[in-house]
Amino acid sequence: MEANRPTEIVWDEKAQRFETEDKEAFLQYQINDILLAAPGEDGEQEKAKKLPAVAMDMVHTYVPRSKRGLGLAARLCDAAFAHAQRHSMLVVPTCSYISETYLPRNPAWNSLLYNGELHSSM
Ligand code: COA
Repeated sequence: MEANRPTEIVWDEKAQRFETEDKEAFLQYQINDILLAAPGEDGEQEKAKKLPAVAMDMVHTYVPRSKRGLGLAARLCDAAFAHAQRHSMLVVPTCSYISETYLPRNPAWNSLLYNGELHSSM
């Protein structure tokens, strides 16, 4: 039945959000340029050789009270992590739901995590 159709998760690139069709539930992110140490480099050489990369800082997840506990936040995260992987971005899990609940339940995504500092955003 159409009424029971699960809501789609939509990407709003301009707003930097993944959200439900009604926009009531969302995952907000920020894009940051980062520099990664080149593999195999250390010490002084490491400072000279840095590779530009992009980190997706997942700052906030929100689901309206009446829709909580149904896995909606997890679906928003599924879409956001898949997006990061498709676009070769690393992820900063600033939102506590993501770091404390979503990632322990979906440890395969730990391979995308960026643990360094964020300097600039765009
Ligand atoms: N931090 C970590 N885990 C949280 C959490 C939080 N702030 N809030 C709820 N959870 C856990 C619940 O304990 C629940 O665990 P359970 O499955 O063992 O019962 C689980 O998340 C529910 O997962 P899911 O159904 O995918 O999440 P949801 O659709 O209910 O939405 C939030 C979860 C956090 C997005 C929602 O509760 C919310 O919008 N809260 C207010 C805003 C907020 O605190 N956002 C997180 C910080 S950015």
